[in-house]
Amino acid sequence: MSTRETVQRRDDARVRRCLVALVVLAAGSVMLAQGQVGTPAAPNLGKPVSEAEIAAWDISILPDGTGLPPGSGTPEQGAKIFVAKCALCHGPEAKGGVAAALIGGRPLTDGIDTPKTIANFWPYATTLFDFTRRAMPWQAPRTLTDDEVYALTAYILSLNKIIGPADAMNAQTLPKVRMPNRDGFIPRFPERIP
Ligand code: HEC
Repeated sequence: MSTRETVQRRDDARVRRCLVALVVLAAGSVMLAQGQVGTPAAPNLGKPVSEAEIAAWDISILPDGTGLPPGSGTPEQGAKIFVAKCALCHGPEAKGGVAAALIGGRPLTDGIDTPKTIANFWPYATTLFDFTRRAMPWQAPRTLTDDEVYALTAYILSLNKIIGPADAMNAQTLPKVRMPNRDGFIPRFPERIP
């Protein structure tokens, strides 16, 4: 092969490489323009969460009753549900079984050593609704209807003589129930409490 031919081949190869580079660049610009590359679509993991999915998890109830759903229930209705779905662990009339008693409790005079119960410790009645709805029954949480949770809350409050045996609990009445230990907590920032 002559020196001339060799130079000619080298030049051809250079031209080919340049053409390939140009094609790649052109394709890249088109993809960029169409938004197929770059940050907006990346990393493209997961899927948008719908309002309904957020609502299913957004179930916190505040002490003033914010978040309480519609519905209602009486101690009498709660007693029947309790026998069917709760007594197995919390004992008949919530006196305790494999899981804690939900009634009674000594006054918290000796502080830390006294077992804490709903009646001697919990400052807000709305917590009873929130906890029962999200966590009970233990083996099947989130299976109770809102009416059932109101009825069970009414039953447990009534067993503890915090409300009367005929008092219905709902979004209006429950936040008004004053728990015995309501003032037993020392606010860390008293100036922030309205
Ligand atoms: C399979 C057993 C089981 C069943 C059935 C059950 N619970 Fe519970 N319950 C537990 C356990 C265990 C705890 C302690 C949970 C914890 O500390 O996280 C508990 C805790 C509670 C508490 C908080 C008590 C406290 O003083 O801290 C309440 C209120 C409660 N359950 C209500 C109910 C109601 C109402 C039902 C019926 C719908 C029910 N539970 C059914 C096992 C059960």
